Amino acid sequence: MRAPMAMTLPWGSLKHELFNRGKKEDSEEASPPPPDEEFNTLKDKFDKAGQGQVLQFYEELKPEEKGAIYKQLSPIDPEHINKLADTALHPPKAESEDQNPKLEQLPDSATTSTIDSKEDALSKWHDEGLKLISANKVGVVLMAGGQGTRLGSSAPKGCYDIGLPSNKSLFQLQAERILKLQHLASRHHNKEDVVMPWYIMTSGPTRKPTEQFFEEHSYFGLNRNDVKFFEQGTLPCIGNDGKILLESKSKVAVAPDGNGGLYPALTSSGIVADMEKRGVQHIHAYCVDNCLVRVADPTFIGFAAEKDVDIATKVVRKRDAKESVGLILQKNGKPDVVEYSEIDSATAEAKDPRDSNLLKFRAANIVNHYYSFRFLQSIPDWAHRLPHHVAKKKIPCVDQEGKQIKPEKPNGIKLEQFVFDCFPFLSMDKFACMEVKREDEFSPLKNAPGTGEDDPGTSRRDILQQGRRFLEEAGATVTSEDQKESGVEVSPLISYGGEGLHFLNGREIRAPAVIEKEE
Ligand code: UTP
Repeated sequence: MRAPMAMTLPWGSLKHELFNRGKKEDSEEASPPPPDEEFNTLKDKFDKAGQGQVLQFYEELKPEEKGAIYKQLSPIDPEHINKLADTALHPPKAESEDQNPKLEQLPDSATTSTIDSKEDALSKWHDEGLKLISANKVGVVLMAGGQGTRLGSSAPKGCYDIGLPSNKSLFQLQAERILKLQHLASRHHNKEDVVMPWYIMTSGPTRKPTEQFFEEHSYFGLNRNDVKFFEQGTLPCIGNDGKILLESKSKVAVAPDGNGGLYPALTSSGIVADMEKRGVQHIHAYCVDNCLVRVADPTFIGFAAEKDVDIATKVVRKRDAKESVGLILQKNGKPDVVEYSEIDSATAEAKDPRDSNLLKFRAANIVNHYYSFRFLQSIPDWAHRLPHHVAKKKIPCVDQEGKQIKPEKPNGIKLEQFVFDCFPFLSMDKFACMEVKREDEFSPLKNAPGTGEDDPGTSRRDILQQGRRFLEEAGATVTSEDQKESGVEVSPLISYGGEGLHFLNGREIRAPAVIEKEE
């Protein structure tokens, strides 16, 4: 995760936050220019706020461009943006308590680990999770609104082909895991019509291409009525001088408001209402870029449901004291995430008092969450309290003369909320954490091909190596002539998490191979 500069901004009313932030630019129908009176009212509003530059080219625009910028600016409250920009660019000094926060491990009652839990506890949770799925009480939320700038692909990340033999995209892998789980739950509990609705959060830049990709691939076999797209908000990008930037003479530069934009979007897009209508009680939320993600993992759902928590989170074991990951822990008695840049080396290196082979703080955040439905229902009570973080970025824009600029160093900021910043709103007894095996559950796609870390090559490798382990655990022997191609792709339609592969017991599989059918 990136290191945040956390700050709590003086938000306006929740109503403003939920309903005015991030009005979508989804309608591309040309709008006529506004009547003079309405234009003047808008111009006054921006002039008074010292943001009149956004309309400085208005007179030279074509009629449809005038209509477009009027439409884009109308829902924006420039005073509100000023407050955000001001606090972001001149952060208030941290409160004394936060200078020296009390950091503790999560209590035992809130944690478990699939690495050292007893098999019977795991299978009890797994059965319970599958039962909840079979009763149509489980829903899935995907955060796919990011722009994936580091990866550098023009298509949304979920469409990315990481180079598997099957050429499946990340979206397809995730869709097939949902299909498989529906099937498993249906079979185990002898229930027909098992449905796990999939709620996919997109943003201005990712919505259309994402929907189109699902259309082109016939929703990967899922029922299209059970796949719902919704859009997170955007916020204007702000220059280093606090002025709203223009992407072109007729368009404000905007960016998605961070994955924490999930919460207002879940409410304002009617997703929470849809969950209520369907009777969904347990929700799994995850990031699009983790190729190993166990979508709606029954063990995780069963664990969180048994604990009756509002949020549970999956973590992996921090590799070593130096790894740059956020840590899940207790901060001043509340569940929280602390970034690697926020702790000193003594804290990073501290050993677990009960096992000196382990780091004391080792629960690495992988942004993989369980929510209770009642917690999502309470979003309007707390969403306005989520802090904003500053991301310094190179933002293409036009200068005072209207000349297009492609900056080589950061020329402004984007404001982002983080999805895990609501953890401290909970009391410790409503929060739980499950440590899982990294090699089985976490391999994020962040960087461009060839980077060597968290890139398409490592995603591909990790899926294929997992497939190989699945086969070996099922009693197959995997052989390969090429050391570099020793993995096997196991279709999620055949096995969700290594189960159901006994038909390969005693067989020899020559890698590279794809296990797509039971034959
Ligand atoms: P990252 O923070 O890694 O961002 O997102 P990104 O957009 O994928 O990549 P960069 O930083 O531009 O290179 C982590 C997860 O949060 C989602 C992403 O889609 C990804 O699943 N996300 C991020 C959103 O849904 N909305 C956002 O505004 C930002």
